[in-house]
Amino acid sequence: MKIAVLYGGVSAEREVSLSTGKQIIAALESKGHDVIGIDFHPSRLHELLDIEADVVFLGLHGKYGEDGRLQGLLDMLNIPYVGSGALASGIAMDKAKSKQFFKEAGINIAKEKVLYKKSYKEDQTELSFDFPAVVKPNREGSTIGLTIAQNREELLKGIAEAFMHDDTVLVEQFVSGKEVTVAVMGEHGHMQALPVVEIEPKNAYYDYESKYAEGGSIHYVPARLDEETTALLQKQAVIAHEVLGCEVYSRVDFIVPYDGTEPVILEVNTLPGMTPTSLFPDAAKEIGMDYPAMIEKLIELSLK
Ligand code: DAL
Ligand code: MG
Repeated sequence: MKIAVLYGGVSAEREVSLSTGKQIIAALESKGHDVIGIDFHPSRLHELLDIEADVVFLGLHGKYGEDGRLQGLLDMLNIPYVGSGALASGIAMDKAKSKQFFKEAGINIAKEKVLYKKSYKEDQTELSFDFPAVVKPNREGSTIGLTIAQNREELLKGIAEAFMHDDTVLVEQFVSGKEVTVAVMGEHGHMQALPVVEIEPKNAYYDYESKYAEGGSIHYVPARLDEETTALLQKQAVIAHEVLGCEVYSRVDFIVPYDGTEPVILEVNTLPGMTPTSLFPDAAKEIGMDYPAMIEKLIELSLK
């Protein structure tokens, strides 16, 4: 099969995407496919048209790759691609909007305040919840621009930092608990939740370094959770994927609170990392699917 792999791109997660792309290309080559890797830049779209690939594998993360814009363009060009469509990708990229869908579906979300650059005033940042608070750009990945604020001063600093990455900022109640994630894969209406992965970061939380440095975190697969919590997370991950209208695969992140209360959903990642330290491939491995088989399966599901 002739497969174009788009990677790199222009988002803040470019470095992550370079690693994701490299792994995907190597995997597809090992399976004997005709692979053309493209370090994607929107102005070089014509390259993609010239290639006439059977399918495009999106090894991109973040802006202009994961957020639905490229997916919409590929739809218009009638080029098949792997993963979710334009609308679902756009909503999933927007953490605040996704949370409304999750809430509607009965999944627990953290208390929040959404701030918009145009109307932002420091004196409007009184929170209706306690510190610590998590400050994040609304549409960003890999914890880029994220602050865990312990007091008002750190909160205001964190907001200013987050506004450098997006014009919408999400401030959320920090939830003390285990960081876990659920990979979801399958055909529409028959989505399968893979074993839950638990993350034990070396740093205080699962930050950029813990995510991508070799040995930055330990992954426990399956997660060290009771059966009931595992089943609940898997069920909610499928619901979250479906309520946003996602297709083929995604990875749904949660916190399981130490106080025993219900899991809190963080977000759905429609183009989850596929780097050597990433979580989705670990979940696939647990069900006996090695990396190249997993990548081929995602293509097969996308072309159905
Ligand atoms: N945004 C990164 C790539 C992830 O979710 O894995
Ligand atoms: Mg993310």
